[in-house]
Amino acid sequence: MQKLFEGKQTVRMIFSADEIEARVHEIGCDIGKTYSERDHLIVLGVLKGSFIFLADLVRSIPISLQVDFLVTSSYGGNKVSSNELQLLYIPTVDLAGRAVLIVEDIVDSGTTLNALIPLIEAYEPRSIEVCALLHKRVAKIGISPRWVGFDAPNEFLVGYGLDHAEDFRHLPYIASL
Ligand code: IMP
Ligand code: MG
Repeated sequence: MQKLFEGKQTVRMIFSADEIEARVHEIGCDIGKTYSERDHLIVLGVLKGSFIFLADLVRSIPISLQVDFLVTSSYGGNKVSSNELQLLYIPTVDLAGRAVLIVEDIVDSGTTLNALIPLIEAYEPRSIEVCALLHKRVAKIGISPRWVGFDAPNEFLVGYGLDHAEDFRHLPYIASL
């Protein structure tokens, strides 16, 4: 695998920009076929990690949609999952009766999603689905995303929105530290 020097340290490329682009386009087209205009699709990106994925994904979805965000408490520089999740920003758009698509960067333990779904259900959307760019397949319980970009190795990944202590989000590819 390709080793790249990214300023502070060497990273190992896992998914190239080209691979990501192709896969994101594929998922976007599939999402477009799954929903109809009547669903009033609202895409909720979980900040900050999903920002690049979300931006590319929505441009590949060929139906009307709206975009808003969810902000949850972050892991900071820790490499382990926390059991506590706080919602720091709530979408300003009305979710009632609409098809909600939550866009996550990566599912690791599943803790974030398991805590997030009930919080969104409270707004009484018509449906809730999840699209995750990466899935480590560590989670044994809880909801599984309807769309997954790539199965990921159980390593700490950065790039294409994912960070380690806020570094590396801007990398156009996904790498392991
Ligand atoms: P979970 O709650 O354990 O499923 O972890 C989900 C969240 O943890 C993601 O939304 C990421 O923000 C963060 N996370 C988990 N694994 C990684 C990783 O390998 N790199 C960067 N962030 C990660
Ligand atoms: Mg995240």
